[in-house]
Amino acid sequence: MDASSETFEARLAATAREVEAALGVLLSPSALNGEITRPERLRSAMHYASLNGGKRLRPFLVIEAASLLGGDRDAALRVGAALECVHCYSLVHDDLPAMDDDNLRRGKPTVHIAYDEATAILAGDSLLTYAFDIIAAPETKLPDAAKLALTLALARAAGIGGMAGGQALDLAAEKQAPDEQGIVTLQAMKTGALIRFACEAGAIVAGASPEDRTRLRQFGERIGLAFQLADDILDLTSDAATMGKATGKDASRGKGTLVAMHGMAWAEAKLAEQVREAEALLAPYAERSIVLAQAARFIAGRKS
Ligand code: IPE
Ligand code: IPE
Ligand code: MG
Ligand code: MG
Ligand code: MG
Repeated sequence: MDASSETFEARLAATAREVEAALGVLLSPSALNGEITRPERLRSAMHYASLNGGKRLRPFLVIEAASLLGGDRDAALRVGAALECVHCYSLVHDDLPAMDDDNLRRGKPTVHIAYDEATAILAGDSLLTYAFDIIAAPETKLPDAAKLALTLALARAAGIGGMAGGQALDLAAEKQAPDEQGIVTLQAMKTGALIRFACEAGAIVAGASPEDRTRLRQFGERIGLAFQLADDILDLTSDAATMGKATGKDASRGKGTLVAMHGMAWAEAKLAEQVREAEALLAPYAERSIVLAQAARFIAGRKS
């Protein structure tokens, strides 16, 4: 690891601590104005689902994209925490017996194992809903137009035409193998959409120009594809102790992945190409975008 990547990892870890502190407050036992009560077992499962480790990469991207374009850090942190709630919900549901049926996540028992299936489903439901609460809440100091744009973009990234739709395609692919374009589409949806939203959200928080917003969105699209490609490579090459989740499962479940279709050498080359394309999109920002460029490389080279 060279000095700059060490600095990057320290920066990512520092942001993760901030995100976790924010999530800890958001998931405290006291009911908010308009809530009736917070059932303790459900709250505890939500806390477990979202404060059980994790790289916090998506909030990091929101914060760094906002910072690149001059956005307010506190607002970006809240939007990042909201996005992390959606991500954590997606993991809780992804691990359910009806989906990937996994017992280990972030090195700990999955939520349906530590609690029970019904609680895991409801914890996911509540985390998803909470994301929109966090964006709309008065503590998120952004113009209403920005909140509306974030709400719309997050809904589109998370729902039928984004993450949840991608998860449906992923499960369908276990029964009938998609072609290459089918795999690219399912990955752009199940994983890419939330990562793309992270980058675009930073631009929205910053009140950026449509050109900057599009550029950040395109950057997010490239690193989103790279992210899932790396995940599929790691599923084959890493182990549960390093990843904190079961590995070797994609092949056994017949998941449609580009690695399975084209092999490891092709996948590594494709990953490098996606990072180059992502970095090229940052060219207009020159030195100011160094952290986002490092993030692209981190995603491709990550070990967990
Ligand atoms: C895992 O995402 C799920 C995929 C989209 C492949 P991450 O690798 O970002 O998971 P955490 O949040 O760091 O645990
Ligand atoms: C997960 O993809 C994508 C979402 C949770 C939306 P995977 O099923 O490959 O993720 P892991 O490998 O379980 O983290
Ligand atoms: Mg899955
Ligand atoms: Mg899974
Ligand atoms: Mg995976």
